[in-house]
Amino acid sequence: MSFKGQHILSVKQFDRDNIQYIFQIARKMAPYASRKKRTRVLDGAILGNLFFEPSTRTRVSFGCAFNLLGGEVRETTGMESSALSKGESLYDTARVISSYSDVIAMRHPQAGSVAEFAEGSRVPVLNGGDGANEHPTQALLDLFTIERELQASGQSIDGMHIAMVGDLKFGRTVHSLSKLLALYNNLKITLISPQELAMPDEVVSALDNAGHRLTITDKLEGNLNADIVYQTRIQEERFPSKAEANQYRGKFRLNQEIYTRHCKSNTVIMHPLPRDSRLEANELDNDLNLNPNLAIFRQADNGILVRMALFALTLGVQDLVQDYECTV
Ligand code: CP
Repeated sequence: MSFKGQHILSVKQFDRDNIQYIFQIARKMAPYASRKKRTRVLDGAILGNLFFEPSTRTRVSFGCAFNLLGGEVRETTGMESSALSKGESLYDTARVISSYSDVIAMRHPQAGSVAEFAEGSRVPVLNGGDGANEHPTQALLDLFTIERELQASGQSIDGMHIAMVGDLKFGRTVHSLSKLLALYNNLKITLISPQELAMPDEVVSALDNAGHRLTITDKLEGNLNADIVYQTRIQEERFPSKAEANQYRGKFRLNQEIYTRHCKSNTVIMHPLPRDSRLEANELDNDLNLNPNLAIFRQADNGILVRMALFALTLGVQDLVQDYECTV
């Protein structure tokens, strides 16, 4: 199984075997991610890290993952600081940046833009989020986290109950995660959102066709008795106006009191982050921070492992990672 030279644009390109292979490489990265060991396997290689939409985790973790493998990172952040704002096409940008880089990670506000960019690229392109469409590396790290969290209590992904909550219409992470979950067996899936922010039909069909047991509801209480609760933020940036987004903010708040009343004692809480900490929104309350089942920061940590694995695989060095003795 080889990912060498491949773009990572959509979760649709994965099956269960290659997901397990990515996870196997991700686990191998743990001592390098924690700096217990060092490697220079990507010494001399350059990542073009192009973020045309705000990001904290994805941008920084792509950069850190590449640095941890010994490579260098060159970044562009924000549309206004790029020649795209002067009318340059994605194709031309890709032709140029791909001759400066060995691999490119990119986020852009338009659905389909990263795939369009990849057509002009001569090196692998990793989709860091394209509008409301997909966020494949987030979905892989989410699935990696779900597997790890469930394994800790002797469970597996097959047969689990997951509740996805919030803005399921615009939340690209739940779109990509759902398409990966369609590869698994006999899941119970509860989709909780305002009717106007329901999961797109295409994603619901994928889950339905996989034979999963689906519940679609606009009620939070009574529907959180799941193994995993995956909370999401209202994606204000995808709404026509802030006022329209405000109608939904704060409607599906999860806090310790609701957790105690409605979740199982070991329900794992996930969120792709950022969570909206403004008082009127606050979909995941800070009073859950000491709850041991809050997995949101373990989830973010796993992003480094999965992104290191994806760089190693797309650059074909996954079997060459070895310890580097620093003599300085
Ligand atoms: N989860 C995620 O995509 O976070 P950022 O927007 O901070 O990259």
